[in-house]
Amino acid sequence: MALCDEHFLTWVINQTERSIRKYDMFTHEDRVLIAVSGGKDSLALWDVLNRLGYQTAGFYVNLGIDDETAYSSKSYQLAVDFAQKYNLKLHAFQVDKTYGATIPEMAALSRRSKNKTCSICGLVKRHSFNKFAMENGFSVFVTGHNLDDEVAVLYNNTLSWQLDFLRRQAPVLPAKPGLIKKAKPFCRFYERETAAYALLRGIEYIEEECPYADGSTTIAIKTILNQLEHNHAGTKLAFYLKFLKAKPELFPQLGESLVPQDLLFSCPGCQQPTPKEGDCAFCRLISEVQTKKMAK
Ligand code: FES
Ligand code: ZN
Repeated sequence: MALCDEHFLTWVINQTERSIRKYDMFTHEDRVLIAVSGGKDSLALWDVLNRLGYQTAGFYVNLGIDDETAYSSKSYQLAVDFAQKYNLKLHAFQVDKTYGATIPEMAALSRRSKNKTCSICGLVKRHSFNKFAMENGFSVFVTGHNLDDEVAVLYNNTLSWQLDFLRRQAPVLPAKPGLIKKAKPFCRFYERETAAYALLRGIEYIEEECPYADGSTTIAIKTILNQLEHNHAGTKLAFYLKFLKAKPELFPQLGESLVPQDLLFSCPGCQQPTPKEGDCAFCRLISEVQTKKMAK
């Protein structure tokens, strides 16, 4: 589609609203918490939802990734600047202040092996977002995942036939006891579209990737998918949308909501749901890190 700057901006706003309605993500009555990383997707999403008149607040998790890249300090400052510019509420949470260690420190102390830093980071972020949203009366939690992100996850999970993850992949995950509803309003936009939106709006965002993303599987998969898309435009969108369409047939036991309703256990430490009985992965990580820190 060839659109001028102004019509492109309007198109992004209208398409976002369409996705929100189509997938029943939230309404104007909902209090929406946005995961803000300081990157283009989350800031563009915040901008769009704000222009659409939704009740939003941002939540920034300071991971303490402050090596020579100063990734956390820079991204935090950009999130603060954005919130101030539009007079929006940004909540910030500092991992090391609450748990006694930054994400890189946790990775150094933990005995987990695979993709250590990123998987620990994901675990801590998911837990913190959910906890904050539940304790502060938000009804839905949204992230800026775009089509490229969704397709990379889908491709990876299909390659290894991770049925559990495939079942869970959806634009909306309904709330469960102890878990807030989650939504991805940008799931149908290509990354280049969210980047163009941020650029045309003059949004300043962190352009560098997190230093730990370097060499990750996701980046390798995105490269392959970009090649496919380059040769056959529309491949990514078709892969994602056809997957969503095929889900009822692939997983007939899911019922109408198309995501698993399996009953989860409640973690005795933090009360958040967990797939197995006993402490959840997050609580086990924190107690491991704190024990090792004390022993030092
Ligand atoms: Fe979490 Fe990079 S953003 S490890
Ligand atoms: Zn727990």
